[in-house]
Amino acid sequence: MPDRVDLLPGEIRRRLETRAFGRRIYYLPEVDSTNRLAVDLARAGEAHGSLVVADHQTGGRGRRQRRWESPPGRNLLFSLILRPEESAWEVLALTLAFSMGNARALSEIVSKEVGVKWPNDVEVEGKKIAGTLSEGSSRGGRTTFLVVGTGVNVNVRIDELAVEFRDRSCSCYTLTGREWDRSDVLARILLYLERSYDEFLREGFGSMAGRYKKMLRILGKRVRFERRGEVTWGTVLDVGSDGGLVVDTPDGRLTLYEEEVGAVREEAQ
Ligand code: BTN
Repeated sequence: MPDRVDLLPGEIRRRLETRAFGRRIYYLPEVDSTNRLAVDLARAGEAHGSLVVADHQTGGRGRRQRRWESPPGRNLLFSLILRPEESAWEVLALTLAFSMGNARALSEIVSKEVGVKWPNDVEVEGKKIAGTLSEGSSRGGRTTFLVVGTGVNVNVRIDELAVEFRDRSCSCYTLTGREWDRSDVLARILLYLERSYDEFLREGFGSMAGRYKKMLRILGKRVRFERRGEVTWGTVLDVGSDGGLVVDTPDGRLTLYEEEVGAVREEAQ
């Protein structure tokens, strides 16, 4: 359990500068998954902007059916409930917009350049500091709600992570050498997420894509991905207005939406 209590609803609320995000807070010392609980709350009619935050998850969900592990009391594990103002949302594009919000907030916190790895990882110096998992529900082509869940490595020490993640992860602590108040970090991130969300509603991802690309470390680089069961390589050319990753492959130009992009290699000179 944490050495000191730095994540409580009252503490978060006192620091909030947002309009809607986090205005209602469900805080749990432990839950299976904040995304699971947020989805249940959303199904029961929970309002736009409500926040579910936990100190520990026993069944944290990552992308592609992976688990998201985080030791108790060290990091941020939270989910936001969003209710669409339009009939259909580009879920992928919105997730990308959220990665930008996370990256901007974390860059201010750690005073370093923070990048994104398509679609939704946030990285510093090539190591992952945060990830986002969006889960939605639609009825008759209409998005009824979206849950955006984010895990941020705040105070975790590298030796507290599973061995396989140690050389590809970082935290605010490992980057700055100091402990961070998680309520401060969360309030800052929520502010930037709300700004990115507003930008998304106002302009659409099409006009945010240029800014996303500036944060994208794999632009112009070779990436490896699996498509229809086969491993393929390609060079990243662009990010479309729908959030798709445009890649030049030996078989022509492709746009990726679902694929896991990995094993980034430097372009041969
Ligand atoms: C990824 O695979 O990078 C996405 C990880 C998302 C993890 C967060 S932690 C809070 C929220 N609740 C979950 O069960 N998952 C997300």
